[in-house]
Amino acid sequence: MSLPHLHLLVTGGAGFIGANFARAFLTNDPATRVVILDALTYAGNLANLEGIDEDRCVFVRGDIRDTPLVCDLLRQHSIRALVHFAAESHVDRSILGPDLFVETNIVGTHSLLKAARLVWLEEQPGAHRFHHVSTDEVYGSLELRAPAFSESSPVRPNSPYAASKAASDHLVRAYHETFGLDAVITNCSNNYGPYQLPEKLVPLLIVNCLLGERLPLYGDGLHVRDWLHVQDHCQAIALAMRVGVAGETYNIGGENERTSLEILRLIVSEIDHAFERDPSLSEKYPHCPAATGKSCAELVAFVRDRPGADRRYALDISKARRELGYAPRAAAGPAFESAFRGTVRWYIEHDAWWKSVMDGQYREWVALNYKNR
Ligand code: NAD
Ligand code: DAU
Repeated sequence: MSLPHLHLLVTGGAGFIGANFARAFLTNDPATRVVILDALTYAGNLANLEGIDEDRCVFVRGDIRDTPLVCDLLRQHSIRALVHFAAESHVDRSILGPDLFVETNIVGTHSLLKAARLVWLEEQPGAHRFHHVSTDEVYGSLELRAPAFSESSPVRPNSPYAASKAASDHLVRAYHETFGLDAVITNCSNNYGPYQLPEKLVPLLIVNCLLGERLPLYGDGLHVRDWLHVQDHCQAIALAMRVGVAGETYNIGGENERTSLEILRLIVSEIDHAFERDPSLSEKYPHCPAATGKSCAELVAFVRDRPGADRRYALDISKARRELGYAPRAAAGPAFESAFRGTVRWYIEHDAWWKSVMDGQYREWVALNYKNR
């Protein structure tokens, strides 16, 4: 589709992936301006947007469920394309409190769809694009040797989070089929990279190593995820925005399946070695076992699993390769290991960032989540 100079609305742009996306998009496309709409929930942080080109980026604190606000933004900023990241995104939180997931992920997505329909189809018809960011979790869990999920795999979500994302995918598709909204959906696998809140596995393990706190592995630690560098994900979204076909869904993965235990081992090895290379880290992180010559592996604790835990996710990305020209740069092998180690080093260097986002509200929730495990 042709959207020559983009004024792009990014919902959830103060969250992990949204902030990485806004940053990359502004860098790669000098003709672009971005409006970020974010409610700044516990997961959204302006610190994630530090250093972004403020002349080309407007931040609006607001709720995607506020349909009149969304309509006003589309009109005021002549926005013809949006990328929708805003969501409640953590499975554990959806188990402890599903209501907000229905509100944000289903009602919130529907609010955006209503605004897009009104402004782009009724008031000012013309080229537009609604890009919906979704997850591989909508497909449910895979047996260990089963083939990876394709776009035509049945939708069988297991957690309230996954069910709410699946419902939002259905609504987006329905608005395309029924009203002719130009909409594309991408379903991606587990992202890792800078600015991820330390409630998700990778940053949680890194930060806990550095603070000398236990490393909780759910169940036997052998759940498999497909790990995708956030920059690869952002590249795929940009491609789908440009060449994705309206009404289509594309799976975006990293072709890199690893168990949680393997992920933990990589983190431990990178941190242990970082302390060997740089003795000043021992002063910065005195509670880390590596500060006294021990290995962070001593912090591992196998804890009670999630109810309904998904054993394995894996994505067949051949459609995105073929139709979008997508190829993950940090795919399995040395490229993944190097990108992953780079991520671990980012957290070692950016303690000011993660200390600023782990506020009282965050700590209270972590205490609750791990209390009976
Ligand atoms: P995140 O939790 O880090 O960020 C979510 C952002 O949405 C936050 O900035 C938050 O303030 C904002 N938000 C929440 N409710 C809002 C509302 N009602 N109105 C406006 N803003 C609101 O999430 P993330 O990890 O960056 O994920 C982004 C998207 O990608 C989500 O839709 C998620 O389902 C999807 N996804 C994430 C992953 C992953 O590995 N993180 C993988 C697959 C799909
Ligand atoms: O697959 C895509 C999904 O990836 C996204 O849709 C979600 O938004 C995102 O949160 C992520 O979901 P997961 O549940 O896979 O990610 P999480 O980091 O929470 O957990 C990854 C694996 O690690 C999972 O098997 C559970 C396990 N785990 C998680 C935490 C938080 C642990 O063993 N210990 C932990 O403390």
